[in-house]
Amino acid sequence: MVARLLERADELTALASAARSAARGRGSTLLVHGEAGIGKSALVRSLHSRLPAEGRLLVGYCDALSTPRALGPLKDLTGSVGRVLTDALRSGERDAVMPALYDELAGGAPAVLVVEDAHWADEATVDTLRYLARRIEQLPVALVLTYRDEELANGHPLGQLLGDLGHADGVARLPLARLSSEAVAALAEGSDLDPQSLHTLTDGNPYLVTELLASADGRAVPASVVDGVLGRLHRLPADVQALVEQLAVLPGAVGHELVDVLAAGGWSGLVEAEDAGLVRVVGGAVAFRHELTRRAVVDALSGARRVELDRRALRALEQRADSDLSQLVHHAVECGDVDAVVRHGPSAAREASASGAHRESVAHYRTVMAHELRFEPHERARLWEELAVELYTIGVGSEIVGAQQHAVALYRSLADPRGLAISLRWLSRLCWFAGDRRGAVEAAQECTHVATGAGDEGLLAMALSNESQLAMLGNDNEFAIRLAEQATILARRVGDAQVLAHALNNRGSAMFRLGRDGMQPLQESIAVARRVGDHEDACRAYVNLAWSLLDDDRVREAEPLLREGLALAERVEFLGFWQYLRAVWARLRLAQGHWEEAVRAAAEASPENQQAYSVSLGVRATVAARTGSDVDAVETARQGWAVATHLGELQRTGPMAAVGLEVADLTGVAPVPADDLAEVYADARRLGDPALQAVLAYRLGVAGRPVGRAELEDLVADRPSAYALQALGRAEEAARLWREAGCPYEEAVALAESSDTDRLLAGLAILDGLGAAPMARRVRQRLRERGMTSVPRGPGATTRANPAGLTARQLEVLELVAQGCTNADIAARLVLSVRTVDSHVAAVLQKLGVTTRQEAADAYRALVVPKPRPAADVGSRPARSR
Ligand SMILES: Nc1ncnc2c1ncn2[C@@H]1O[C@H](COP(=O)(O)OP(=O)(O)O)[C@@H](O)[C@H]1O
Ligand SMILES: [Mg+2]
Repeated sequence: MVARLLERADELTALASAARSAARGRGSTLLVHGEAGIGKSALVRSLHSRLPAEGRLLVGYCDALSTPRALGPLKDLTGSVGRVLTDALRSGERDAVMPALYDELAGGAPAVLVVEDAHWADEATVDTLRYLARRIEQLPVALVLTYRDEELANGHPLGQLLGDLGHADGVARLPLARLSSEAVAALAEGSDLDPQSLHTLTDGNPYLVTELLASADGRAVPASVVDGVLGRLHRLPADVQALVEQLAVLPGAVGHELVDVLAAGGWSGLVEAEDAGLVRVVGGAVAFRHELTRRAVVDALSGARRVELDRRALRALEQRADSDLSQLVHHAVECGDVDAVVRHGPSAAREASASGAHRESVAHYRTVMAHELRFEPHERARLWEELAVELYTIGVGSEIVGAQQHAVALYRSLADPRGLAISLRWLSRLCWFAGDRRGAVEAAQECTHVATGAGDEGLLAMALSNESQLAMLGNDNEFAIRLAEQATILARRVGDAQVLAHALNNRGSAMFRLGRDGMQPLQESIAVARRVGDHEDACRAYVNLAWSLLDDDRVREAEPLLREGLALAERVEFLGFWQYLRAVWARLRLAQGHWEEAVRAAAEASPENQQAYSVSLGVRATVAARTGSDVDAVETARQGWAVATHLGELQRTGPMAAVGLEVADLTGVAPVPADDLAEVYADARRLGDPALQAVLAYRLGVAGRPVGRAELEDLVADRPSAYALQALGRAEEAARLWREAGCPYEEAVALAESSDTDRLLAGLAILDGLGAAPMARRVRQRLRERGMTSVPRGPGATTRANPAGLTARQLEVLELVAQGCTNADIAARLVLSVRTVDSHVAAVLQKLGVTTRQEAADAYRALVVPKPRPAADVGSRPARSR
C-alpha cells in the first residue's frame, strides 16, 4: 500500500509553517481532528519530510486500554529525550514531569511534539498538555494533538482542555474533511473497482477506501471493511493468523522484545501480515495499520480464544520489568485473572495517582475494590481511603462519603487509633465537600475524641484544626478561633508545618468574619505553607485572605494577593484551587468594574467544583443584571441560589441572597422569594458576620423591607461600612468610601442616592461608562423627576432606538405579545423554553411599567410608530416594521 496523501495540502502547509515558526522560537498548538480513519495519523507522519533542518519530531501515542496508561504518550518519548525528563517520566511524579518536560522543550532543538489519539489520553497527560499549551508561545515547539471529536463525551478531560484552549491565542484547528470523488478515483486507479461506487460506499473516508481497495478481489467489493480485514487474515497461514490474533489483543504498538516472546515462529510471519496490509513494522515495533483493523480482528475472536490470548499477553508482560501497570491490569481484567488484578491493581492505582492521573487512579481502585475481600483489613481500609481521596480530588461528590465510611469502619474494627483518627478527619472533610455538614461535624468530634485518647499531640493538632475549620465555615467564629489557637500551639510544639498553616488560616479567616483584622495569621499561614511546599494550604490561605479582604471592601489589597495565589496554583497546576482563585478574581474584577473580564474568569469554574461554581454564578448573575440581560440574570441567580442552599453555609447563601435582591431590584423579577432572603439576614446577624449583615441590610432596605435602625447603628459604630451607611441614608459618606475602595459601580449607585443634582450627574457618567444601562435609566428618571430638562443622553444604540431600554430579545418578545401570541406560541417561535419566555415577558412588563399584556401591546405600538427621523439617520438601517 503506497501512502499517497491527497487533498491535505492546506493542512500540511499549516503544520509545516507552525514547525518553522517554532524553530524561530514562537510555538503554537495545532488540533488535528476528525473521525476514525479520516487521515490524522497519515497527515502527521507525512510531516517528517517537511520539518526544518534542525527540527525534531516527537510522537507519543494514547492507546485504547480499558484504563489509559498514566502519562502514557509522554513515556513513549523516553529514549528520544534527555536524562532529566527520562528520569522524571520513569519516576512518574507529576510535579517532576511538568518542569522537566518544559525544560527539555525550551532548551533543546525545536520540536514538533505530537500526541496521537488524545481522546484516549489519561488525566495526567491532559494536565501536562494544558501546562504546555498555556506556555506554548514562548517555546520552540509546535504541539500537535490528534483526536476523534466523537469520542469526547461530556466531562472528558480533553474536552475541557479544548474548551479552555478555545479562548487562547496560538491555537489552530485543523478539521480533516472526507475525500472528494476525484481523490477516491485517484486512489482507485489501477484497481478494477468502480470509483463512483467506491466513493458512495465509503463516503470518502480514506481508511475505508484504502481497506476496500486492499481487500477487493477482482471486481467484487467486500460487503464491509470487517469482512475485508478478516478475508485477508484468513488467507494467511495458520501460524501467522494466530500471531496476528495474539497481537490484536494488545492495544497500541507492541515492542520488539514482547514480539520475540509472543511470536513463537519468529518474525518471518510478520512479513506476510505486513504484506497483507494488516500490520506495520516501524522501528522494531509492530502496530496494526489502523485501530479499526485491530478491532475487526479482536471482535471476531471467540470468548475462550480471547481469554487464552489475554492470558498469554499477561504472562509475557509480567516477565518484563518495564511493563506498564495499566497494561497488566487491562489483560488481567480481560482474562478474568483475579489474582493478577489483586497483584497489580493497587500499584496501578497508586502510580496513576502520583502521576496526577486521578481519573485513571479511581478507575483502578474501583476495579480493585470489586474484590475487596481478597485484601487483609488494614490494606482494605487503606484502599478505601485512597479511593475516597482520589474521588475528592476529581470532584465526585456522590460516592466519596460511602467509600470513606468503609475505611472508618475497618479502622474501628482494627483498634488502630492513629488510622482511625486520620480516616475520621478525612471523613469530616469529605462530608463537608459533599454538602453534609452534620456528618462532617460528627466525624470531626469523634476524630478529636480518638486523637485525645491516643495521646498523640500531632493527631490532636490535626483534629482540632479540622474542627476549627468547620466552625469557621459555619460562622461559629469565636469557637473557631479558640480551637485554632489550641491547634497552633500543639502544631508548633510537634513541628507540624502543614497543620500549623491550616490552623493559622482558620484563625485569620474567623477573625475577619467577626469584623476583626485576620491579616497577620493568614499571611503567616501562606509563608509557613510555602516554606514547606504545602501547595494546598498555601492556595487555601490565598483564597481565604483575598475573600476576606473583598468582604471588607479592601479591594486594592486583595488584588496582589490573588495574583500571587493564581501564579502559584498555575505553576503547580492545582486545578481545583486555580478555579476557585479565578472565581474570587472574578469577584475582584466585578468590584473594580471590569465586568467582561469578571465574566470570563467566572466562566472557568466547573459545576463539579460546587464551591467555586457558586461564587461564579453570583458574579455572572450580577453582571447580567447590571448590564440589562434580565433573563440571564434571573436564571443565573435562581441557579446560584439552588447551589448555595445545597451547600448550606452562610458564606454561600449570604452573598447569593444579596445577589438575588439586587437582581430582583434591577429586573423586577424576584429569582428567590424575598422571605427566604430576609431569613439569611437573620442568620448573618445571629452569627455575627458584619460584612454580610451590611450588604443584606442595605439590599433589603432597597427592596422595601428595611431592618431596624439600631441594628444599623451598631454596624457602623466600630468601623464605617459603606453598605451600612447607605442603609442609614448616609449615601455621600458611602460614595466616598466606595471611591477610596476603587469600586465604581457601588460609588455611582451611592452618588445617585444623594439629593444633590451634581452628584447624580457624576453617578450617571460612571454608570454610562460601565454600560450599566438599567441603573443609568433609573438615574435619568430621577433627574427628570427633579425637573432637569436636558438630561444627558447615554451611549448604547439599543437605549436610543428604544426608549424603554428593552434588549433586542425583549423587543422581539414584545412584538409577538403585541401580535396576541401566548407565551407558549412565543416559545415555539423563538425556540426558547416557556419558562424563559415567562421571564422575558415579566421583564418587559416591568420595564414598560405596565401590568397587562394588552397594555404592553399598546406601549409597543407607541414605541414603534415611526417618528420623523433626524437627517443624520438617513441611509442607516430602516426601522423594524411589523
Ligand atoms: N489524504 C489521504 N489520501 C490518501 N490516503 C489517505 C489520506 N489520509 C489517510 N489515508 C489513508 O487512510 C488510512 C487511515 O488514515 P489514518 O491517518 O490512519 O486515519 P486516522 O489516524 O485519522 O484514524 C491510512 O491507510 C492512510 O494511508
Ligand atoms: Mg490515527
